[in-house]
Amino acid sequence: MCGIVAYIGPRKAHEVIIKGLKRLEYRGYDSAGIALLNGSLNIYKKKGRVSDLENTLEDEKLASRVGIGHTRWATHGEPNDENAHPHYSFSKNLAIIHNGIIENYSSLKQELLNKGYSFKSETDSEVFIQFIEDIQVNNDCSLEEAVRLALTKVVGAYAIVIMSKDDPNMLIAARKGSPLVIGIGKDEFFLASDATPIIEYTNEVVYLNDYEIAIIDNNELRLKNTQDVASTPYIQTLDMELEAIEKGGYEHFMLKEIFEQPRSISDCMRGRLNANKGRLVLGGIREYANKLVNADRIIIVACGTSWHAGLVAEYFFEEFCRVPVEVEYASEFRYRNPIIKEGDVMIAISQSGETADTLAAIELAKSKGAIIFGVCNVVGSSIARVSHEGAYTHAGPEIGVASTKAFTAQLTVLSMIALRVAHKKGTITERRYHELLVEMENIPSKVEKALELDAQIKLVAERFKDAKNFLYLGRGYNFPVALEGALKLKEISYIHAEGYPAAEMKHGPIALIDEEMPVVFIATRDSSYDKVVSNIQEVKARKGKVIAVVTEGDALIPKMAEFVIEVPKTDEALMPMVSVIPLQLLSYYIAVMRDCNVDQPRNLAKSVTVE
Ligand code: AGP
Ligand code: GLU
Repeated sequence: MCGIVAYIGPRKAHEVIIKGLKRLEYRGYDSAGIALLNGSLNIYKKKGRVSDLENTLEDEKLASRVGIGHTRWATHGEPNDENAHPHYSFSKNLAIIHNGIIENYSSLKQELLNKGYSFKSETDSEVFIQFIEDIQVNNDCSLEEAVRLALTKVVGAYAIVIMSKDDPNMLIAARKGSPLVIGIGKDEFFLASDATPIIEYTNEVVYLNDYEIAIIDNNELRLKNTQDVASTPYIQTLDMELEAIEKGGYEHFMLKEIFEQPRSISDCMRGRLNANKGRLVLGGIREYANKLVNADRIIIVACGTSWHAGLVAEYFFEEFCRVPVEVEYASEFRYRNPIIKEGDVMIAISQSGETADTLAAIELAKSKGAIIFGVCNVVGSSIARVSHEGAYTHAGPEIGVASTKAFTAQLTVLSMIALRVAHKKGTITERRYHELLVEMENIPSKVEKALELDAQIKLVAERFKDAKNFLYLGRGYNFPVALEGALKLKEISYIHAEGYPAAEMKHGPIALIDEEMPVVFIATRDSSYDKVVSNIQEVKARKGKVIAVVTEGDALIPKMAEFVIEVPKTDEALMPMVSVIPLQLLSYYIAVMRDCNVDQPRNLAKSVTVE
């Protein structure tokens, strides 16, 4: 996790870096720090938010044309001033910012301690920079060479940027497993964990690959790998608007992103789906399309909300493509010696495209010959690049830590892939195929209608904001929605919540139900409706408080539930895109009413680039 930003060029480095760190704060916010060359190499760092750091900086003293900055999500050592990045080397001639984990740091640290080095922090990152300096001193080599040699010896994941007191015109960066983008301006360079700090200055970027080292020296960018082989930077043009990464009048990014969904879902379908013409094309899935069509099983890997999207996709693929689907937590899959054979098909789902566990699961499957299809939101992200083929969700930057619009866009893409496969395989009738295409086109306007429930949901939030626990129940396509609703509430309001298949409730969670317990049923009209109604009765019989998300016009459930939220009718297979909306809003309003930091909930980070 963590966000890193560095700058070299004619501007005031600290201004560019502080602004950039604020944009990356969604990646971690335990502490923030910045290193600048103003007379000497100075580090300013502090536990807490970037704004806390900013308040302690005295602008006039900070003139520096080069600098590195960091907003941390702690892995090694508690969040405090000492463990905040940047870290000095032993001589204080070098400073480093690091995103990732150096797994062999304790043996390296022991070696350095034996040699007489001492450490100010508990981090693996400080060990890294001292190790680099030790190599430089012992081998009497350039910093560039010392960094390269060090990288051949460290185990783990990193994106690093290093600056040197002796070389105000140079920055050295490297990556393995953690993202790093270099923005190229006129006589200036920007480095960052993602493109958001860069976009306002330039749209020309180079994505660093694993094992690559970038040397920016005297206004020139050179690339080489850890084996000392030089390469030519591949410059890409970013397609991102500045407005997309700003709040646009909303109080929080999360609310803005919830309300963007009608548009993000349309954007996701644009140019791909046209029900009138019976057309469904996915430009990113061509060469390997037949692998999907002929697959005898599909493995889906993801984490968190993306995993919930995978669960919905399991129902969808199995129903329409008649192919068995396994949905796996990437973190479990990668460590349990899974059975993968040559030609197996894997779909990896990730908003950020940087989740370390998902990336590792892909690498594992790939090494055994699987074909990987990536469903990512961030263009150019690691998962998008390591996948054989895939489809972007095109939801635009998602900045709120709690995922909302990325989820519905993932459902959109996964439904399109499944429909495409089903149609090719002939496992769906023409009529049903056409019906679903038409209904997909209607989803944005139905989501728009669901968003009008805003005021009503505030009332529910007001009533239950002090609850200690919540249960979310659903069946079929709405079961993953129950999981997602519970996750949203946990993440941003810190209320304990469980999502369960409604029928499974009686095998355990029913014991939790009493008159204090709010139970959210996602009970839209579908094939399991009658069964869900029985489950509602079971909760009522135990005096639980029922909040039900129902289909417009439902006459039965309103008689049983304390609160009813009516969403527009749609096809059962597409309902999750609509039924999740009130749950997103409910968690949002409860969090706001509890005074929680909605966009940056405690302990969380937007992209989990450590395992
Ligand atoms: C969602 O609200 C989360 N914060 C989290 O579960 C997230 O979905 C998960 O970390 C996966 O991220 P990814 O989609 O970027 O891979
Ligand atoms: N491992 C480093 C630390 O704990 C970096 C963590 C991160 O990527 O934020 O400081």
